[in-house]
Order: sequence, then structure tokens, then C-alpha cells
Amino acid sequence: MDRTKLIREFEKIYGAGGEIVTVFSPGRVNLIGEHTDYNGGHVFPCALTIGTYYAARKREDTKVHFYSGNFPRQGVVERDIVSDLPFNPKKGFSNYPMGMVWTYAEHGMKIDRGFDVYIFGTIPNASGLSSSASIEVGMGKVLNELYGFAVPNLDIALYGQFSENRYNGVNCGIMDQFAVAMGKKDCAMFLDTATLQYEYAPVRLEGMKIVISCTNKKRGLADSKYNERRSECETALSELQKELPIQALGELTEEEFEAHKDLIKSEVRYRRARHAVYENRRTIKAVELLKAGDIEAFGKLMNESHLSTKDDYEVTGIELDTIAEESWKIDGCIGARMTGAGFGGCAVAIVKDEAVENYIHTVGEKYKAKIGYAADFYVVEIGDGTYVMS
Ligand code: GLA
Repeated sequence: MDRTKLIREFEKIYGAGGEIVTVFSPGRVNLIGEHTDYNGGHVFPCALTIGTYYAARKREDTKVHFYSGNFPRQGVVERDIVSDLPFNPKKGFSNYPMGMVWTYAEHGMKIDRGFDVYIFGTIPNASGLSSSASIEVGMGKVLNELYGFAVPNLDIALYGQFSENRYNGVNCGIMDQFAVAMGKKDCAMFLDTATLQYEYAPVRLEGMKIVISCTNKKRGLADSKYNERRSECETALSELQKELPIQALGELTEEEFEAHKDLIKSEVRYRRARHAVYENRRTIKAVELLKAGDIEAFGKLMNESHLSTKDDYEVTGIELDTIAEESWKIDGCIGARMTGAGFGGCAVAIVKDEAVENYIHTVGEKYKAKIGYAADFYVVEIGDGTYVMS
């Protein structure tokens, strides 16, 4: 959507006049390094060219009006920065952007006048491509523009995570908000979540595409399962800390971990921690391979990553497993794995140009035959992090 169209849509809802701020905030896909970000490990995500569009204008009173072009039937959702600032279970999607208003206030940036906002998203719903992080970081950028704050994108990412953890109650790591805020066209970000040091790695996929398959599975219990995995890892870490002077599982090599595995007193927790340790090491190796131009070997590590999330971490399920396993059979598929939190959501694959059509057709047919409903496929491009549209 271009800026003119966005402003036109805004004005249809709220009327013309005044200064209108426009922002784009992308979704993200993680190429490798799953469930490592809250374990002090590495991740390797990139921002996409699909995302969330915002148009917003300041008001004279304390009301905040949200309108989503994706849910026109909900109409304008009204909140108030004085009387309706805390999480409000009756106010649905508005809790994601509103959480950022609360977060800015928590960080000393008081907002004393409300605003009207029009939001339109091009990320498929509940797909695991970080629509919530996209909304949060986008809202932060809008608040910067409306009220003259100069919070840099990296800090907006941290605020987004703060808001998701404290306001919306999901104990997520930093990967999604970081990828959304800091993305760079045609690059993935190699981020050390323990230090927030990062480096951009060009993803030069000559003759290949990134294909995302959306399982369309309803993600019912995803948030509680996510929090459960996180606490299993925390318990395993505290067991290892009885002998190891570490702050996070991401500090361990495979050998160090195996040498101390008996400290972990449950088989399930052992597998959870094993995933966190091995996946982190795999991510470091994968980035080296990509830098050396060995995309085939990178793809193999994507496949291994999937198996680890399936067998050790148990966050895939039949839908994501079907997509991955059918992908691996396709000639021209370099690698495929689940991406994001799991429990439904999406898989990501790297596929040779000439194989894309057959990949989408064949994996789509097999998926439908086995699961009973269709998956959706998207050939995506790597884009920039959250920015003001001008
Ligand atoms: C979700 C979370 C991230 C990360 C991934 C799993 O997307 O928001 O912080 O933990 O799951 O890698």
C-alpha cells in the first residue's frame, strides 16, 4: 500500500485535515536459531516486505481510536490514555498497540493527548510471522513521530518485548521485535541474544527463493505451551548451574553440555536443554556456511534444526512435520523447517527458482490429503526494518 492510499483510508474513517503520520513495520521470518533467544543463544531472522501499515493523527482529548482495515466489522475501538490504559481483555487486538503507549509511559515518556489510528496488515493472520511484534514496533515508531520522542529502533524493539511480556503476558524473547525493528533489505541478522550484538549477513539467493508455507492450524494453546518450554529450560539451567558457572544455556558447547547432562533430573528437560544448546551451535555454524557461500550445507542444517524442534523440543506437530517432510522430498528444495514459536504457524524453505511451482503444488497437495485442509504458500522478499513512510 502506498502512502496516498493509506492516508485516503485513514481519512475515510476519521475525516481529513491535520498532520497524518505514516509508518510501515515488517513481519519477520527466522531462517535458523529457534527457541534460542530466551536461552542466551543466537538467532538468524530477516524482516519481510509484508507487514503492518499505520496512519495516525494526534487528538485534542485523551481518547485513542484504533481501526483495523483487516477487521472492519469491529469498527473503531475506543480506548483512553487516562481511564483505559492497562490491558483490557474486552478490547481485543487494540491491546498490542495500546501496550506500547503504556510501555512508553512506564519508561517516563508520558503521552497526554490521544490519537486516531488506522492499521492495515498484510501478514497472514496467526501465521507465526510476528504480526504482533510488527504492530508493537510500528506503534512505537508512530508514537515517536506524533509526540517527538527519538527512541531509536533498537530500543523500540526492547520496548516491544517489554510490552509483550508485561502488558500482554507472553514471555517471548527479543528475536521478533529485534528483527522487525532492525531488518535490512536482502540481509538476515545474526544476533547474539545474550549481548544484543548483531551483524548483517547478506542473503544472496541467486536462482533461489524463500518460500513460506502457512499451516493454517489454529494456534489454540500456543502461548501457554511457549511459556512452559521456557520454564523447562530455566529449570534445566538451574540444575546445570549447580556445577557450571553459566548464565544461560547458550554459553555451552555440545561437549560441555553432554559432560554435565546427568545434572538434569528429567529426561524431558534434558531434551529441551539439548535442543537449546545444539540449535545455538547449529546457528553459528549455519551463518559461517552461508558466508562461505555454501547454501546446500546451510539447507541441511535447516533440516536438522526442524528435527530438533520436532523430537527434542516438541513444538512442531503433524502439520509442520508434514510440510517439512514433504519439502525434503522435492528436487530443488535446499532446506526446510518450521519457523517461529511452532505449534502451527509457518514453515520456511529455500527453493530453487525452477522448482518453486512444483514445490508449492506438490507440498500443497500432500498437505491437504494428509491434514484435511489447505496450506497457503508465499514467496517472500527480505525487506527493511520499521520506517516512517514519506
Ligand atoms: C516466538 C517468540 C520469539 C522466539 C520464537 C522461537 O516467535 O516471540 O521470541 O522465542 O518464538 O524461536
